[in-house]
Amino acid sequence: MNSTSNQIYPVVWQDGKVLLIDQTRLPGEYSHVAINRSSDMAQAIKTMIVRGAPAIGVAAAYGMYLGATEIEECDRTKFIQHLEQVANLLRQTRPTAVNLFWAIARMLKTAHEEIGTIAEIKSTLLKTAQEIQAEDLATCQAIGDSGLSILPTTPKKLRILTHCNAGSLATAGYGTALGVVRSAWREQRLERVYADETRPRLQGAKLTAWECVQENIPVTVITDSMAAHCMQRKMIDLVVVGADRIAANGDAANKIGTYALAIAAKAHQIPFYVAAPFSTIDFDLANGSQILIEERDATEIAQIGDTAICAEGVEFYNPAFDVTPANLISAIITEKGVIEPASLIDYRSAVA
Ligand code: MRU
Repeated sequence: MNSTSNQIYPVVWQDGKVLLIDQTRLPGEYSHVAINRSSDMAQAIKTMIVRGAPAIGVAAAYGMYLGATEIEECDRTKFIQHLEQVANLLRQTRPTAVNLFWAIARMLKTAHEEIGTIAEIKSTLLKTAQEIQAEDLATCQAIGDSGLSILPTTPKKLRILTHCNAGSLATAGYGTALGVVRSAWREQRLERVYADETRPRLQGAKLTAWECVQENIPVTVITDSMAAHCMQRKMIDLVVVGADRIAANGDAANKIGTYALAIAAKAHQIPFYVAAPFSTIDFDLANGSQILIEERDATEIAQIGDTAICAEGVEFYNPAFDVTPANLISAIITEKGVIEPASLIDYRSAVA
């Protein structure tokens, strides 16, 4: 996978290092950060140079490989012990998106199962990271296409509202929620995307809008607090968002503000869809109350740029995600088809 086509790839393996699009600099600057150490990969995930659940899974997989190349042990048991330490470092970066833990577990399993030399384990780990990346790209394209089946049958082109960025930048490429948007656009079923700005990190305003502009998809940015108003004014036909972790009962964690959006959609009888790969489903969690919600630094809400916006002495609460209960979700759009949240549990054996 390389960066020469006009598709957006947030993670690229090139010449023995990982190139990450620096998502903290978009849309003003399109640049890459070269990563060749596992600790630098952990830092890039933490600081959101790379973000979005599937993308951090892919990045962590490469982080595991980079970590493996740093281990000089010739003894297999000691090698695996060191690799477990790399896994721990990467696991400590962001707690909510299960794709991160899923990818690390798959890399560890690969190392355990490879019976060859240490050099062979290392090369199998690189192959597995590349497979995780290629599979996610194909999965997102499948999600986009299965999403076509939920589009209301109306001669009118559709207005789709989305939150945060669940696009190419948040995945190996193509996107989940934005994958559905891309497929709708390709089939000439889309009038326009409404992109919630997404306080406080502004992934909607900075990233989703940028992605749409790259492909000439008409996009209107609104602040999060304008979404209900737009629904009331009949400006929105459906909502499609991504997810960071979906519990077995269909409750879905996604960027903070998603839950409010789902409530508003329900109040206006607007369908509300979650688009996500199976790697985002955590069948070990019975419901969304068990999902660990990341809390990020107060500066994300206390400041605009470098300027403090509140009086000194104010306290802040900055959860990065919230959980939308399954009963507010019309369906989950996956690579295996469109699934009602209550039926998700039937698919448990498909991923075991
Ligand atoms: O904090 P972020 O930017 O990593 O949060 C991203 C989201 O909430 C996305 O909607 C989610 O990861 C799905 S990405 C396909």
